[in-house]
Amino acid sequence: MPVPLIDLVAQYRAMKGEIDGAIQQVLDRGQFILGPEVEALEREVAAYCGTRYAVGVASGTDALELALRAWGIGRGDEVITSAFSFIAAAEAVVAVGATPVFVDIDAQTFALDPGQAVDAITSKTKAIIPVHLFGHPCDMEPILALARRHRLLVLEDCAQAIGARCRGKLVGSFGDAAIVSFYPSKNLGAYGDGGMVLTNDEVCARQVRLLRAHGSVQRYHHDVLGRNSRLDEMQAAIVRIKLRHLDEWNLARRRHALAYAQAIEQQHLTHVELPGERAGCEHVYHLYTIRVADRDRVQQALEAAGISTQVAYPSILPEQPALRRRARSVSVCPTARRAAAEVLSLPMYPELTAVQINDVVQQLANALQRSG
Ligand SMILES: Cc1ncc(COP(=O)(O)O)c(C=O)c1O
Repeated sequence: MPVPLIDLVAQYRAMKGEIDGAIQQVLDRGQFILGPEVEALEREVAAYCGTRYAVGVASGTDALELALRAWGIGRGDEVITSAFSFIAAAEAVVAVGATPVFVDIDAQTFALDPGQAVDAITSKTKAIIPVHLFGHPCDMEPILALARRHRLLVLEDCAQAIGARCRGKLVGSFGDAAIVSFYPSKNLGAYGDGGMVLTNDEVCARQVRLLRAHGSVQRYHHDVLGRNSRLDEMQAAIVRIKLRHLDEWNLARRRHALAYAQAIEQQHLTHVELPGERAGCEHVYHLYTIRVADRDRVQQALEAAGISTQVAYPSILPEQPALRRRARSVSVCPTARRAAAEVLSLPMYPELTAVQINDVVQQLANALQRSG
């Protein structure tokens, strides 16, 4: 039987009554933008992550950009982030007129390496965006210490990691602000786009609230130039239902990760490097990402056997044509480069079964034998 990378329909089927009921309520109420569902979701996500404020916006990418704008980061400023990640953080930095400065990653967790971030700091550095990639928390203690020492703002990118913990504390509650994404495939996904800015800082929250709605609190009075980046009621209602299941889903992902590791060990696939979990961290496995040499051939063989996989990410950000002249890198980022050549994400979603996991690993063993 084919195994998909992710199965959003299986999740919907399991909670159809709850979701349909929530959508119907929004339709019956007839209020579709910035209403009671968005307000309730803001309260609930803030309470879940342990921050004072949460502001719903149109996407995780907008959340990054609006947080940077709320802090006044712009032309002439530099913002440090990871060379191996989705483009959104770098894009947001460029969008506000600042320069992304890329640093290398930690080989085991794919997270930004705080040791490398030290070398990226100049008199222009204003902020650092640690990306909790694939659901693994960055090493926040040294990042926060560095930020304190150099008076940098910390914007956590939790798009892939809501619910992950670092020394018992949830991601999103470490930095000066954090963002989450409700993109459908995320651990807490909507059925469309959506995102949120989290912060304990009242001024930042107020500013993001202004920016997401044309710079206006009072209708047709505009204090600053903003935009339309409002989270809609339907998506908020859906995410509110899903938030109640998030911990149980993240636990299921962790169980599947353990099952993958055990099956890979039983098959003696010694050439497969498993995703690491740093001591004191709780990975939430947005993606279950292994490393293999000859990755492209392995992926093709798995595809032929009906196993869907993903390469996130096939190249490093400093090499993206759109960023080449707009960003700076501290080094050639050898660890990020190696990751881009070797990573392969296997199917991962809460509803995955033990039989599917064993099938994936059996097919992985076959693929490796063929490519070796
Ligand atoms: C690490 C990371 N940051 C930011 C984003 C942007 O989120 P969105 O797709 O909601 O704009 C994503 C989403 O794909 C992501 O993976």
